[in-house]
Amino acid sequence: MARYLIVGGQGGVGEAMARRLAGAGHELVLTGRSAEGVEPLAAELGAEALALDVLDDAGIQRLSAVAAEPLNGLVYAAGTITLKPFDRLVEDDFLNVFRVNALGAAKVIQVLLPGLKAAPEGASVLLFSTIAVDQGFAAHASIAMAKGAVVGLVRSLAAEFAPQIRVNAIAPSLLDTPLGRTVAGSPRMAEAVANLHPIPRLGTTGDIAAMGELLLTEAGSWITGQVIGIDGGRSRLRTPRG
Ligand SMILES: NC(=O)c1ccc[n+]([C@@H]2O[C@H](COP(=O)([O-])OP(=O)(O)OC[C@H]3O[C@@H](n4cnc5c(N)ncnc54)[C@H](OP(=O)(O)O)[C@@H]3O)[C@@H](O)[C@H]2O)c1
Repeated sequence: MARYLIVGGQGGVGEAMARRLAGAGHELVLTGRSAEGVEPLAAELGAEALALDVLDDAGIQRLSAVAAEPLNGLVYAAGTITLKPFDRLVEDDFLNVFRVNALGAAKVIQVLLPGLKAAPEGASVLLFSTIAVDQGFAAHASIAMAKGAVVGLVRSLAAEFAPQIRVNAIAPSLLDTPLGRTVAGSPRMAEAVANLHPIPRLGTTGDIAAMGELLLTEAGSWITGQVIGIDGGRSRLRTPRG
């Protein structure tokens, strides 16, 4: 049995990862922005719940209590999708998106390092990028910049911490999650976006959690420094469909 921390552990990908890892018998610490939000899921899964806003440095420092014991892995699932035409983006848009998606990940990893380094079997960190880093999309400048920084973080830390700590990211296309539904809200829009993918559907949290579990556990023990596209083929393929 291993011990994992999931930041953004309630709703969307974080919750799917939590359910999958708990189902495999692992010990979990789940964070949500509010204790009330994350506690019911944590109670259901027998996990520890913590309130954490990654924009709050004092909150991040409190994670040092989690790192006082060996920690086999981190899933940093906190994120945003801020889509705006470039001429409407203001400095705070860029900075807020960067803080939640990239800088927050770096700060959380820094605080957790003692626990990750102490895991006798080694540890694994899983971050999230986006298809919009490798494939250009209009209105994605702020999120693509921030998630591009996540890719740089993955590669740097994977080199710095090999072989003890593996660091990887998943780069999804649009997922059917609370966050994804802010982009493709109506069934018609969701169908239109789904049909842009060579495999014509939106991603599910299950698609991501299956790969996430592999990357976190022994099955992925020779994988580090990678950014794995889970995107219905959209980042790499040109087909009659998309
Ligand atoms: N959904 C997509 O289509 C898509 C596509 C590409 C990449 N991604 C990336 O995949 C990851 C998971 O996304 P998802 O679809 O599962 O999103 P989600 O369903 O909205 O969940 C996002 C999580 O981020 C947390 N969060 C947001 N701001 C936070 C903050 N300031 N401090 C702490 N936690 C914060 C939320 O916590 P609360 O519930 O407490 O608010 C929530 O648990 C994210 O990094 C996202 O950028 C998603």
